[in-house]
Amino acid sequence: MKIAILPDNEAIGKVGADILASTLKDKPDAVIGLATGSSPLPFYRELIERYKAGEISFAQCKAFTLDEYIGLEPNHPESYVQFIHREFVDHVDFAEGAVKTPNAQTDDLNGAAADYDAAIKEAGGVDFQVLGIGSDGHIAFNEPGDSLASRTHVVFLHDQTRRDNARFFDDDINQVPKEAISQGLGTIQEARKIVLFVQGKGKARAVREMVEGGISARWPASVLQLHPNVYVLADEDAASELELISNYREDWDNFASANL
Ligand code: F6R
Repeated sequence: MKIAILPDNEAIGKVGADILASTLKDKPDAVIGLATGSSPLPFYRELIERYKAGEISFAQCKAFTLDEYIGLEPNHPESYVQFIHREFVDHVDFAEGAVKTPNAQTDDLNGAAADYDAAIKEAGGVDFQVLGIGSDGHIAFNEPGDSLASRTHVVFLHDQTRRDNARFFDDDINQVPKEAISQGLGTIQEARKIVLFVQGKGKARAVREMVEGGISARWPASVLQLHPNVYVLADEDAASELELISNYREDWDNFASANL
């Protein structure tokens, strides 16, 4: 993993955008995997600015979001389809229909999950996957104890995740859905490049387990240790429990001065 410990959200957004810009330079029709939640927002804001400045375009890209709540109306403001359009997609130039989200509005949720994996495959796989991480170590909605090799599937959200996400639902955990459709860890691991955004002390333990812990379903993000091309863009608080923090700073400075 390449770990960048950055001073603030602005720097995190800019480094993420630099990495995506280099992917788009090589492949203007890249397939992008989009995460929702608060962690990638500085990155999306930076991309919107670069798009408006004429520096970047998504006109040839396709995109797939990671997950969707089950049980919310599609026009609910906190459904992930609404979120990603409001915070990013509607501000840039994706072609009509180029951004797909899992279909949680069906009686055949397992079929919808299988269709989603098939659509990602048919698009040629994900070139650049955006991730956040939950305080319990989940990525997408793959909760602790779930298979490290799973495909897109129906998941049950743990109370910790529902408590964390209650801030988007009037601070009322009862309004947070209990289920979602989520890309599996096996699906995510097939992306060619992964960039994970993380901020805040509340994520410090999860970051330590992801980077330095054993690979285990207890901390699902630890599976990323097996991926050859992962970037973790963290602020100082999120990185604060890393044991080898000075090594990561040195490695990143060397990498960034040669590549960014
Ligand atoms: C969102 C997602 C989740 C979030 C995670 C962190 O599509 O899949 O894994 O990335 O719950 O959420 P935030 O960024 O809101 O702290």
